[in-house]
Amino acid sequence: MKKDSEKLIEIAKQARARASAPFSDFKVGAVLQGKTGENFTGCNIENASYGLTMCAERVAIFKAISEGARDFQKMVIVADTDKLTPPCGACRQIIWEFCGDIEIILANLRGKTEILQMKELFPRAFDANFLNK
Ligand code: THU
Repeated sequence: MKKDSEKLIEIAKQARARASAPFSDFKVGAVLQGKTGENFTGCNIENASYGLTMCAERVAIFKAISEGARDFQKMVIVADTDKLTPPCGACRQIIWEFCGDIEIILANLRGKTEILQMKELFPRAFDANFLNK
């Protein structure tokens, strides 16, 4: 794992500590890195109506988009699981549409890591190309 990615994992762990997950107790942290090196963090934020819960990945993306960032290079996702936690289906769609085929780094709290490409996680995506936009 490259030094920069190790640093991002630490940042994602800190974001995870800020998760608001009183219903599932399942805390997730994410960092989205822009092409020029700026970082946008996210944590999951749950809601008593459950369905309004927002995943860490989407929080990071929406923060980035709202700050004006558009070009991204990688995302780190951290959870406390032995089998590394991948992004859910809804997040895969959003990551694909806003970030494209970026590198996705999964990590847990005990040093286990894996690097994937978004394309492997989300093959044959539906996106704006089908709308001729
Ligand atoms: N969650 C995330 O934030 N990201 C993932 O990749 C998987 C799931 C959150 C949503 C919910 O707050 C909790 O984890 C359990 O599903």
